[in-house]
Amino acid sequence: MTSLKNVLLAFCITWVITPALAQQKPSASVDQKIEALISQMTIEEKAGQLNIVVGETINTGPTMHTAESKKFDEQIRAGKLTGLFNVYGAAYTKRLQKIAVEESRLHIPLLFGADIIHGFKTVTPIPLGEAASWDLDLIRRSAQMAAREATSAGINLNFAPMMDISRDPRWGRISEGAGEDTYLGSRIAEARVKGFQGDKLSDPATMAACLKHFAAYGAAEAGRDYNTADISERVLQEIYLPPFKAAIDAGAATVMPSFNELDGVPATANRHLLQDILRKQWNFNGAVISDYGAVGEMINHGSSADGSKAVIHSLEAGTDMDMMSYLYISKIPELVKAGSLDVKYVDAAVRRILKLKFDLGLFDNAYLYSDEVREKKEVRSKENIALAREVARKSMVLLKNDNGLLPLRSSYKKIAVIGPLADNKEDMNGSWSFFGEATHPVSVLQGIKARVPASTEVVYHPGCNLFDNSRDKMTEAMTTAQGADLTLLVVGESAVMNGEAASRADIGLPGVQEDLVKMISKSGKPVVVVLLNGRPLTMEWLDQNVPAILETWTLGSEAGNAVADVLFGDYNPSGKLPVTFPRHVGQIPIYYNHKNTGRPYSGTNNEPASDRVYVSKYRDIKNTPLYPFGYGLSYTTFTYSEVTLNKATMKNGEQIEATVTVTNNGNYDGEEVVQLYLHDLVGSVTRPVKELKGFQKVMIRKGEAKKITFTITDKELTFLRGDMTWGTEPGMFEVLVGTNSDAVKKKSFELVK
Ligand code: BGC
Repeated sequence: MTSLKNVLLAFCITWVITPALAQQKPSASVDQKIEALISQMTIEEKAGQLNIVVGETINTGPTMHTAESKKFDEQIRAGKLTGLFNVYGAAYTKRLQKIAVEESRLHIPLLFGADIIHGFKTVTPIPLGEAASWDLDLIRRSAQMAAREATSAGINLNFAPMMDISRDPRWGRISEGAGEDTYLGSRIAEARVKGFQGDKLSDPATMAACLKHFAAYGAAEAGRDYNTADISERVLQEIYLPPFKAAIDAGAATVMPSFNELDGVPATANRHLLQDILRKQWNFNGAVISDYGAVGEMINHGSSADGSKAVIHSLEAGTDMDMMSYLYISKIPELVKAGSLDVKYVDAAVRRILKLKFDLGLFDNAYLYSDEVREKKEVRSKENIALAREVARKSMVLLKNDNGLLPLRSSYKKIAVIGPLADNKEDMNGSWSFFGEATHPVSVLQGIKARVPASTEVVYHPGCNLFDNSRDKMTEAMTTAQGADLTLLVVGESAVMNGEAASRADIGLPGVQEDLVKMISKSGKPVVVVLLNGRPLTMEWLDQNVPAILETWTLGSEAGNAVADVLFGDYNPSGKLPVTFPRHVGQIPIYYNHKNTGRPYSGTNNEPASDRVYVSKYRDIKNTPLYPFGYGLSYTTFTYSEVTLNKATMKNGEQIEATVTVTNNGNYDGEEVVQLYLHDLVGSVTRPVKELKGFQKVMIRKGEAKKITFTITDKELTFLRGDMTWGTEPGMFEVLVGTNSDAVKKKSFELVK
């Protein structure tokens, strides 16, 4: 009934009330409808279509609202807003939409944007955690669920996926992306876009994706948020851009330029990024939406003298929409009237925004995304909670498990759960989760209590605080641990310690938590560390002294239940690190696909001592990471056969098959992520020591052996050659296959002319 009403209402709005459209036949093409609308718009209305502002409920940047600017109803009525973001609720968005389509002069519907980074009300693990699942279909399904929930509450434009590659764990926003690797990041970017957008943007359960942050935001110098990125064109093109290209090829609707400058020009007005690459090379026709206040920040950057110049620079470079600078709306009319800004730039931007609104189906039914019935049914539905638990289980990475301490045996009579994050719900939602309610998540303590057998008692102590260095509670915590058979130590970062504006110079366990672990480790009872964090941590002491460590990132709504699933063996962990864990902050940037240098250090100490001096290494610490990229254990053990190739040479256009047999010779069924790396030995420019080129996540039953085959084609051998063209070069390649980037079996072949 409601939907029939909606359809009728929408029909009236579109074909009767909207004057520009009413003059046309329904059969007019979308382009014709857009041109008709543009021809009727005043310059003020055009500027309005390029202006999006944050609602009042959730702030994701500096507060820029004035009492005047908060009068959203009035602004909508006057055609001064193209949409709002970070507001939600079917009823609320419907009310605002009604003003737009019934009371504004041209009846143009609103966009409702939001940062749905890892779930809406049903919160899934932070993106870095999901990336650790290496399960592309799971990641797609997780994004799809987020879209189903968020769209029912009115949201039609998602400022996600965040897909910045980062090699610097000091940078807090590493938690929002897929880690350090371009290949894995590209596949995950595609999966997320497909999940958010589905097959059709006008499907009410899908929303437009916004690829962010374009580009090289993750290369912020010294890992300090918003800082300058200074990288070569080669590194930009090879490392940072491919996930964006992959996501655009997957159909992404919009792009957000990053806050940083690149080669001296802020991304918001960077023609090389926005024109040469995005529009010309990649043929991207979608809308470009500035980051929060980024147009105005051109002044601080020192690249625009004032607000007017910032508008001209950004708009002419191709940033179509101004988020929260209030500059397009305030300056465009006067600039055009004064002849300082050609209206063709304004029209081009308006055209892309209107096209997005058409593609979303808003001109057919402005209320498509605000559906109270669907909202009630969809938000935090049983199925969604079950999926959140599945994603959470699969995102965890088992970092250490001496003598099979895990899974926990049911014979423990008393388990101590200790740590400042053990009884915590709110932080389970993680950074960039503004919609998840603080009271919803299942804490680790709750999850453990719900899972232990009736014969096991669970005792709890916080041990210490997250935000101060007080040791007052430690002795009591020690007594709790000593009285139990085993301790689960739940330590890590609070959600606000990672994410935006949350760079850290010291990436160890915050506060006195490491001291707590050291103390409890002396309790004489086994200790399992359950880590919660949004970035790699430096924790060499833990690795050397604690028998079992489970990396859980931040798992979302079902955190505690999922942790219990893994600790008690209801799910055998299968996650692999999407990012390198350094031993020491001084090693940063540290990443697996580095170059060899002219004086590589083998690390084996097999060479004469004199040859170990003038090599690329540290005097005080090892070169190697604490845990390499791709690393993660299972409760079972997988052994790899040697790699076999079906031929020793290949020509362009041909392919080679690389095969390994992986055997599960442990005691549990388990999933393994079999990883394929390639090393191009000699090139017109040097190549990394290895690069991920494929992976397969497979279930291998206890006692079973599985043959895994990878096909290598020109695509896998292509790189940005010395002359800056993409292609292959003849020569020797190593094929490396294994369980992580460090443990690989090797075989070589030659690419011949
Ligand atoms: C972030 C973006 C986000 C925007 C809107 C900015 O501070 O950098 O990623 O989409 O706020 O919330």
